[in-house]
Amino acid sequence: QSSDSSSSTANHSNGHQATADIDWDSLGFGIDNMAPMMYQATFTPEQGWSGQLQPYGPLQLHPSAQVLNYGQSVFEGMKAQRTPAGNIVLFRPDENAARMMAGAERLSMPPPPPEVFLEAVVSTVRANSHYVPPQGKGSLYIRPLLLGTGPILGLGPAPSYTLVVYAAAVGAYFKGGQLTPINLIVEERFHRAAPRGMGGTKAAGNYSPGLVTQLAAKQSGYADVLYLDAKTDSLVEEVSSCNIFVVKGNTIKTPPLQGTILPGVTRKSVIQLATQLGYDVQETPVSITEAMAADEIFTTGTAVVVSAVGSLTYQGEKRQFGEEGQPTKVALQIYESLTALQQLKTEDPFGWVVPV
Ligand code: COI
Repeated sequence: QSSDSSSSTANHSNGHQATADIDWDSLGFGIDNMAPMMYQATFTPEQGWSGQLQPYGPLQLHPSAQVLNYGQSVFEGMKAQRTPAGNIVLFRPDENAARMMAGAERLSMPPPPPEVFLEAVVSTVRANSHYVPPQGKGSLYIRPLLLGTGPILGLGPAPSYTLVVYAAAVGAYFKGGQLTPINLIVEERFHRAAPRGMGGTKAAGNYSPGLVTQLAAKQSGYADVLYLDAKTDSLVEEVSSCNIFVVKGNTIKTPPLQGTILPGVTRKSVIQLATQLGYDVQETPVSITEAMAADEIFTTGTAVVVSAVGSLTYQGEKRQFGEEGQPTKVALQIYESLTALQQLKTEDPFGWVVPV
């Protein structure tokens, strides 16, 4: 337990927790309810990692910070939620620790050891326990960042690094709410990732190139865009904010991880969970033709959880899935199974849920 004043008023381990002055029924996904404390650690080759909690606030950076010039930056997304008893839990935090290490290696940054990463995450959650919404109302979204913050001019890795973990109380990612199906459009102008590129890395630089078409799609009423592969322009890869699953009968397919797709923790978990529920889950290439002919499609991610796709538009043709405004059957079943497990409303046979 840290000694900061915000955590002293917040009990993170039982059902009678103090809560922040937040309207828990109107949470969206944004910065409105930023948690007051963050964790900041620095790394230098001489001194290794050292970090502490501090109030949420601006970072001081040199204009010559590597990250501002050449983009050494990877991030994670995680959620802390409450169980029915009010206890706070994390979902597979070791997976996020491992993915940040892999991303750090890819971008020539020092990988934070899992114990450093987990200490930063757990300290942040504990210090902000009053920002973890009541059970079923949302979650505390946790955003770890690894940045090359040391100054540099010629192209090279930063001489020093910063690990920051901040958090915010959030609700559903997409505007219509968690159970409202999303409309997607296939992106036909740009590809997200190239073979042997860095599409499989959770690098900041993978996200902004998609904004130009995502914003245009949003103006036309789509929640997000679906990318096709760069090699054949015919295989579905992922949505800019989440992974994709395509359902036909009892078979659920999702594109395989071959370096161009983000290795989602929710994706990995849904593959196991759906298999346990009796589906034939296959990690295999999925053509856009197959997706357009599917029974249903859903997307997965930490932020989006499991979102049913209401329609998919490709080359001017719109395919509708299920009834207007209603989540499709398999998507709903998997959403409910996953969230029940994540909030320990049911047993966790996999050992994925970790108390804070
Ligand atoms: C997450 O799902 O946690 C992400 O980091 C995706 C982001 C676009 C919100």
